[in-house]
Amino acid sequence: MESEESQFATLVMRHLFQARGIDMTGYSPSFIMRSIKKRLGRSGAPDYAGYLRLLKRSEEETNALLGTLSVNVTEFFRDRGAFEGFARSVVKPLLQSKIEGGGIARFWSAGCATGQETYTIAICIAEVVKDLDSTRLPMITILGTDISTSALAKAKAGVYTKEEVKGLPDNHLLEYFKRTPQGYEASPALRKGMRFSRENLLEEPQSKYFDAIVCRNVMIYFSREMHDRVATNLYHALMRGGYLMLGKTETLMGTPREAFDVVDLENRILRKKV
Ligand SMILES: C[S@@+](CC[C@H](N)C(=O)[O-])C[C@H]1O[C@@H](n2cnc3c(N)ncnc32)[C@H](O)[C@@H]1O
Repeated sequence: MESEESQFATLVMRHLFQARGIDMTGYSPSFIMRSIKKRLGRSGAPDYAGYLRLLKRSEEETNALLGTLSVNVTEFFRDRGAFEGFARSVVKPLLQSKIEGGGIARFWSAGCATGQETYTIAICIAEVVKDLDSTRLPMITILGTDISTSALAKAKAGVYTKEEVKGLPDNHLLEYFKRTPQGYEASPALRKGMRFSRENLLEEPQSKYFDAIVCRNVMIYFSREMHDRVATNLYHALMRGGYLMLGKTETLMGTPREAFDVVDLENRILRKKV
């Protein structure tokens, strides 16, 4: 990449980090540059400097760029390694501690879109449970919430097209979904303890005392101030010692940051200090 381009890509990445806490350093600069060029062409900005000025003053353009960077999609096992980390560093120790100490294990998929993330969490749990003493398992609940009622309607239906289930390993598809004329339908066993409801993350959480919250690729669209508000809400919704998992490019900003320990940096798993 030309050095002017790479300097510009660095400035855009810095803007995304400062404005939204999105750390794009793991992405290839040429991929980022392709996305920027697409937006630059459509935005009417005269040149790189003009586009950067536009980005800094326009939340809308920042959102449009994020959309082009393909961060507005959802899928099963989005960032596969992250969910392997989630099963290993969150689900397993959490269920073990409930087996020993008692109590319900409560998971929240916050900003779950059309539900793929929520069902992914359920699959991670079902897989971990296979290695645990089935006679001592805690009650497990999973709440999926989103601000979009149409997305939630699909999440509740739990039926996905062939294209949408592409990210699911065949064995999971076979075990946890049923082929129907409408598509692949999540099994009743997978939905056990699961419910969906509409919730705006900028408002005070409707439920609290969660043991684990997965909030991935939601705060990236928010301004710094909104990010802080959501982070504070999530903090209050978590039990002490509860886990918070963010998206692959996300960092926690604002006051609650100090109240968490990092469990798994690569997979953005944090734990509320006890
Ligand atoms: C990019 S999707 C992320 C889906 C999923 N978490 C994932 O990582 O694949 C972002 C979701 O956040 C939801 N969202 C945006 N603003 C929200 C808000 N204020 N409260 C709750 N959900 C919100 C959107 O409706 C969308 O479904």
